Amino acid sequence: MEMEKLVSLCKRRGFLFQSSEIYGGINGFWDYGPLGVELKRNIKEAWWQDMVTSHDELTVAEGAPSTHEMTGLDCTIIMHPQVWKVSGHFDLFTDIMVECRETNKRFRYDQLRGRWVTCTGKKAKGQTKQLSASTSEAKPQEFEKVFVLTKSEAEEELADLERAALKAFNIRAKDADKLNWDGEVVSFETISNFENVLGPGAKRVGTLTDPRDFNLMLESHAGPIKSDENKVFLRPETAQGIFVNFKNVVDSTRVRIPFGIAQVGKSFRNEITPRNFTFRSREFEQMEIEFFCHPDTSRKWYEYWRDRRMQWYTDLGLAGERLRLRDHATDELSHYSTGTADIEYAFPFLPEGEFGELEGISHRGDFDLRSHMEGKLDPKSCPLEVELGENGKPKYRGSGRDLTYRDDQTNERFTPHVIEPSAGADRATLAFLCEAYTEDEQPDDKGKMQTRIVMKFHPRIAPIKAAVFPLVKKDGMPEIARDIYRSLKKRFPAFYDEKGAVGRRYRRQDEAGTPYCITVDGQTLTDQTVTIRDRDTLKQWRVKIDDVVEEIALRVS
Ligand code: GAP
Repeated sequence: MEMEKLVSLCKRRGFLFQSSEIYGGINGFWDYGPLGVELKRNIKEAWWQDMVTSHDELTVAEGAPSTHEMTGLDCTIIMHPQVWKVSGHFDLFTDIMVECRETNKRFRYDQLRGRWVTCTGKKAKGQTKQLSASTSEAKPQEFEKVFVLTKSEAEEELADLERAALKAFNIRAKDADKLNWDGEVVSFETISNFENVLGPGAKRVGTLTDPRDFNLMLESHAGPIKSDENKVFLRPETAQGIFVNFKNVVDSTRVRIPFGIAQVGKSFRNEITPRNFTFRSREFEQMEIEFFCHPDTSRKWYEYWRDRRMQWYTDLGLAGERLRLRDHATDELSHYSTGTADIEYAFPFLPEGEFGELEGISHRGDFDLRSHMEGKLDPKSCPLEVELGENGKPKYRGSGRDLTYRDDQTNERFTPHVIEPSAGADRATLAFLCEAYTEDEQPDDKGKMQTRIVMKFHPRIAPIKAAVFPLVKKDGMPEIARDIYRSLKKRFPAFYDEKGAVGRRYRRQDEAGTPYCITVDGQTLTDQTVTIRDRDTLKQWRVKIDDVVEEIALRVS
């Protein structure tokens, strides 16, 4: 599937719009349209229902070491700034960035790829001198080799690089064959001399700055005075709200370890290069669980959550080769983690064979609770994160609160270990959109073959569950159809349509991903039955009007 087709469908049918589009849009922000909001809500609700409300705490789930409880939270986006200092986000939540002085664009260091271009043609040599004269420090021969960068791997087409190099060398396209288009495609991290680098979209070489750290937290001020003391941060993850409320939840409920706290909510990251539709946005929603357990069983719980979360996506229709579970190699793990796995999807905007992260499942040990208690981390086990101040004292103070847990049956006191399944609601929505997009050939009302676009959503997440059509606008058919529509509406989102040829009405619902269409026709008037059409198989069957609601309810639940 080509990504452009999905992007165009999303706009045309009201799944996704660029935020503030009438003002030219704002990079990294997206609005969900009438169909998109239902789709995303259904995904979040399926997650909440499956993880929290319908969780059975009396039975040992398949693959779990014991029974466990699940509960929820809804925390604020802005929290005490100390939370982010202790969690490490204030000092360490950074990406490395390079800036282009010519285009004023910013790039993530690790995302830049490029190719050496060697310029040895006769005509080209003269041209390189001309180019070098415009940049004072460099010597002419240095421009015989230029490292041309592209913005992303996806744009790594040789033709694009050639075009950029031609411009930089000021060479006419017809003289291109006098040049050597040479060299390996390599990442920017392997380049040490930036003087001969031509940045993405730039016309001159040597305009990129040295790489530097860039903190991804968005800032604001709480209160009327914009001072450093009033500086606050929009949360970059929902997880910290759960950690700082751990004691509140234990004290206010009867939950006993092992148990999980779930939260769905907005997070914000000042991404340097938001891209790939909603995949990397600056405002997005997360669906996170922090699961608290005894250190001795934590490995088993990690495996349980890793497999359970993978199954969740599969059950909702992301099965097949495009979905995979990837265990991190030991050298990829954070210092505190004894296991991390990513659930990944082969998004169509990625190069063939590459996958993008949907969800990470991490074993976080007691890192977070201990940090919020003590404000310091073990310097031996986590040398990177610890920044001790003078005399070996912690740089940032913790809350000083006791966040340990006492098992009232064994009397054992311990700091719980945490397993964190952390998913992105927008990334999941995007993956379900990509997976659903299908084209097939079907005859239209006149029997002519036409390409049909059909969004094959799992009925549980489909924005509209059923559409009702009168075949014609007469003979009492609209009245019967409206009655059916009203009864359906009481149970789930339904749609009524009486405009245009019935084939066109079916096509519109196929594009919206509506699993069932109900048609009132001539036969309805004699035997009180209607047809139900299945979106995917196109099979039609007759059902008594009185049974329609139950039949649809059974199929979409
Ligand atoms: N608490 C752990 C945590 O936040 P993460 O891997 O940074 O881990 C978890 O984020 C999930 O949040 C990702 O797997 C992804 O689905 C989603 N996510 C992260 N950054 C995002 C962004 N810029 N845009 C959209 N979704 C994002």
